[in-house]
Amino acid sequence: MVIKVKMYAQIEKLKKQKNAVVLAHYYVPDEVQKAADFIGDSFYLARAAENTDADIIVFCGVSFMGESAKILNPEKKVLMPDMSADCAMAHMASAETVKKMREEYDDLAVVCYINSTAELKCMSDVCVTSSNAVNIVKNLPNKNIFFIPDRNLGAYVARQVPEKNIILNDGCCPIHADITPEQVLEQKTLHPTALVLTHPECADEVLKISNFVGSTAEIISYVKNSGHDEFIICTETGVKFKLEEGSANKKFYFPNPCPMCLDMKKNTLKNLLECLENEKNTVEISEEVRKKAYAPLARMLEAAK
Ligand code: 13P
Ligand code: SF4
Repeated sequence: MVIKVKMYAQIEKLKKQKNAVVLAHYYVPDEVQKAADFIGDSFYLARAAENTDADIIVFCGVSFMGESAKILNPEKKVLMPDMSADCAMAHMASAETVKKMREEYDDLAVVCYINSTAELKCMSDVCVTSSNAVNIVKNLPNKNIFFIPDRNLGAYVARQVPEKNIILNDGCCPIHADITPEQVLEQKTLHPTALVLTHPECADEVLKISNFVGSTAEIISYVKNSGHDEFIICTETGVKFKLEEGSANKKFYFPNPCPMCLDMKKNTLKNLLECLENEKNTVEISEEVRKKAYAPLARMLEAAK
């Protein structure tokens, strides 16, 4: 306990000394969220990275998040507590498939979920996150949309925007895709009055039995504004920290086994402190890739304004 208090104090001191800012996704461990200046969903964090005037950005999340921060801030030092923290889904689309789709369809937009590598962003027309995908796709001039890499988020968008021809790619988040309707119904039997709140990275069968579908930030905001006091949460367990912080008398249940992204959990207080001290884990992207990947990210940020 005393050690942790000291670590928080050292982190604060280093942040001030180095003009550094700490960004953390809701899925990282509680102890890391407590040390962050900005905690949020992927969209909020991309915007925070775009707007900061800090010299150093420490991104507590997974590699596509650190990469996006660097793409938006080439002149800044972007650090990550653990460089091996990666998102499996970010790699689940290929350059060949994108090329094939572009050859096949004249009027095509390649829409890239932000949970993707910088290389995939380079081949895309616009990025989206789970909180803005429906709106951005709806407003694109193109009829045909190749949605990469997440088939579940793509299918969710397709149902909300039926006027578009949305072509799905066979990628998914292993953590969300593993949540089954049976697991949700098991919780529903144990807690019959609980509302089911679900992330759109989950399969359609889970979305169908949900009361609300939204990004991590949207789920947290739904709970805050709801008169209900029991919820079944179908997303990664890290959101519990913020859910409980805002609603002490509300109860939260998760599918069993509890969804956990082990890559997000690679961020710890210890490696956050080390990374601020040593400034070693820097995110590097070639200028050629960065420029190409910037365009779809900037288009997303512009569209959301
Ligand atoms: P959001 O926080 O944008 O909902 O994304 C969820 C996710 O899987 C991030 O890795
Ligand atoms: Fe990627 Fe899924 Fe982990 Fe998010 S929860 S970082 S989408 S593997």
